[in-house]
Amino acid sequence: MKVLITAGPTYERIDPVRFIGNYSTGKMGFALAENCADRGFDVILIAGPVKLQTSHSNIKRIDVESAAEMYDAVMQCFESCEVAIFCAAVADFTPEKRHDQKIKRKTDDLVIKLKPTKDIAAAAGSIKREHQLVVGFALETNDEQVNALNKMQRKNLDMIVLNSLNDNGAGFGYDTNKVTIITKNGEKLELPLLPKDEVASRIIDNIVAL
Ligand code: C5P
Repeated sequence: MKVLITAGPTYERIDPVRFIGNYSTGKMGFALAENCADRGFDVILIAGPVKLQTSHSNIKRIDVESAAEMYDAVMQCFESCEVAIFCAAVADFTPEKRHDQKIKRKTDDLVIKLKPTKDIAAAAGSIKREHQLVVGFALETNDEQVNALNKMQRKNLDMIVLNSLNDNGAGFGYDTNKVTIITKNGEKLELPLLPKDEVASRIIDNIVAL
């Protein structure tokens, strides 16, 4: 089986030294990649800017910086994969204009106009074929389950993994996570707080059982 996984944040460049990013470390996506590789699956790991290493011979890693680069890399690889797991915290907006020179300090306000990025998971969901499974993540702060279900339908996903920022020890930066797995058949599995590699294993078990 060939599995595509996106992981980490994206950086959206403002000028040569500044960007808009987020706090994602890539730990959950890398744990998913390691778990799939340990099961003998071929993994394509498309990673935003992270400090993590990969050594497993079953993992082919493609490093990208921006949402646009991640979109292009996914579109190159998606067709050849049976499963795609969109774990990256992709920026929803990117500066409309990238400055070639460092923006200088001034006394006036600085306005940076942002335009929406492409939704990579939704793009994959819209072109997926019958033999392909597409899995997304939802990081929510309120009305978690309703938002996650809406997201799964809107992006045509087969499964969504819900992360709540209201749970201690879950989300960006931690080595643990607390997730609820929701499938398009309406099954809901609330996992306890677990190390991210154990969460990864349980997510993959549920994807394989779909
Ligand atoms: O809509 P929202 O950003 O909350 O959706 C989260 C899910 O969609 C995650 O699986 C994330 O990886 C994916 N996503 C994406 N491309 C975007 C935004 C989100 O693949 N531009």
